[in-house]
Amino acid sequence: MDKIVIIGGNRLEGEVVVSGSKNAALPVMTATLLSSGKFVIENVPELRDVKTMANLLKIIGADVKFSEQRMDIDTSNCNKFEAPYDLVRTMRASIYVLGPLVSRFGYAKVSLPGGCAWGPRPVNLHLEGLKKLGADITLDQGYIIAKAKRLKGSLIKFDVSSVGATGNIMMAAVLAQGTTVIENAAKEPEIKALAEFLVKMGAKIDGAGTERLEIEGVDKLHPVKEIMIPDRINAGTFIAAVSVTGGRITIKKSNPDHLTFVLSKFQEAGVKFKFYNSDIIVDAPDKLKPINVTTAPYPGFPTDMQAQWTALMSITPGISIVKDTIYLDRFSHIPELRRLGADIQVENNSAIIKGMRELKGAAVMSTDLRASASLIIAGLAAKGRTDVLRVYHIDRGYEKIEEKLKKLGAQIWRERI
Ligand code: UD1
Repeated sequence: MDKIVIIGGNRLEGEVVVSGSKNAALPVMTATLLSSGKFVIENVPELRDVKTMANLLKIIGADVKFSEQRMDIDTSNCNKFEAPYDLVRTMRASIYVLGPLVSRFGYAKVSLPGGCAWGPRPVNLHLEGLKKLGADITLDQGYIIAKAKRLKGSLIKFDVSSVGATGNIMMAAVLAQGTTVIENAAKEPEIKALAEFLVKMGAKIDGAGTERLEIEGVDKLHPVKEIMIPDRINAGTFIAAVSVTGGRITIKKSNPDHLTFVLSKFQEAGVKFKFYNSDIIVDAPDKLKPINVTTAPYPGFPTDMQAQWTALMSITPGISIVKDTIYLDRFSHIPELRRLGADIQVENNSAIIKGMRELKGAAVMSTDLRASASLIIAGLAAKGRTDVLRVYHIDRGYEKIEEKLKKLGAQIWRERI
């Protein structure tokens, strides 16, 4: 097991390149199951979750090659329509194979994901949506079994906006007979990217990026070549990092349009930005201002930036409140931030932060992906040495984060323990 060690206090300066989006790549990888043939996906981040998804596709029978951010997937010989518990329990996004498998092959057996470090994360909307399209869904020994002759288009209204359910149902509907309308669809850039990938494959989808999707089923799709969009949460995390350390960095190959609301919150806190095409130049202020945020579906403030914002505000003198409306108890980073001296109380789904002038380094343990990012951010600002344990979480979502931060001037390294 590895840990990341940080000696806090260095300003960040220089350039960092944002990786391709993990949350766009994962559903796109499963969308390749909707057609037989050879796909090429570029700008795929080399992350643990992506490798897990590649392993899942291999179990299903796809041939997957992955090197230097390029993934070649050949889906010509898929013959086992199953996502086993051992994979699904390490990565909930495995559920994304459900829609494509049942739609193209008429059968899927996918382990139920279960809970996660920040509470229950149901898949009821995925299952109800598939039932509406005519799939027969049963649960057997912890597995979802979905069967269908050919799915049939339908009207599906989600009562909550769900990224995963929108992606899964959209992938199921593209090969269904007739028209499917999804209301209250997720508008996240990753869902828009998935829709664009499917359209490239020959699907008919209107309204991508809006809350109403209209999908006219087609009989057949074809393989394509695609480049993944940049990871907006990676970009936001680097902005948070330089905001706490002070300094000036250029974030390269990002898409500022996907970050409009996040950037406006950083601006309120005093951070300055300049934009040149896909580059964001970030100038940290001498003093940050305490700013409240409430998470919301896109284009609102992402829950995946909540932990990083909490870390930022814990070193910003004054009171701020961070409220998560998407995952009500996604606060496992807070006891660890307190070990660094942060003063944070949790009431219901809000963190009430009394920002300090200084945090002090300590050993802390990461509990999930974004919690790890928040601990690294806090460690960069803290006085002295911070050891972040269980960093396998960070490897699920950030490519070589310690190398990128080191290049920016941080005193940070990885150690085997
Ligand atoms: C995706 C992201 C994750 C992010 C989350 C919210 C991926 C691989 N993961 O997760 O990083 O934190 O979006 O932006 O893209 N819900 C239900 N029933 C369901 C499904 C969801 O009630 O069947 C609820 C959830 O409990 C949550 C809300 O819907 O409160 C949003 O969750 P959802 O958008 O589905 O998250 P994921 O797709 O799992």
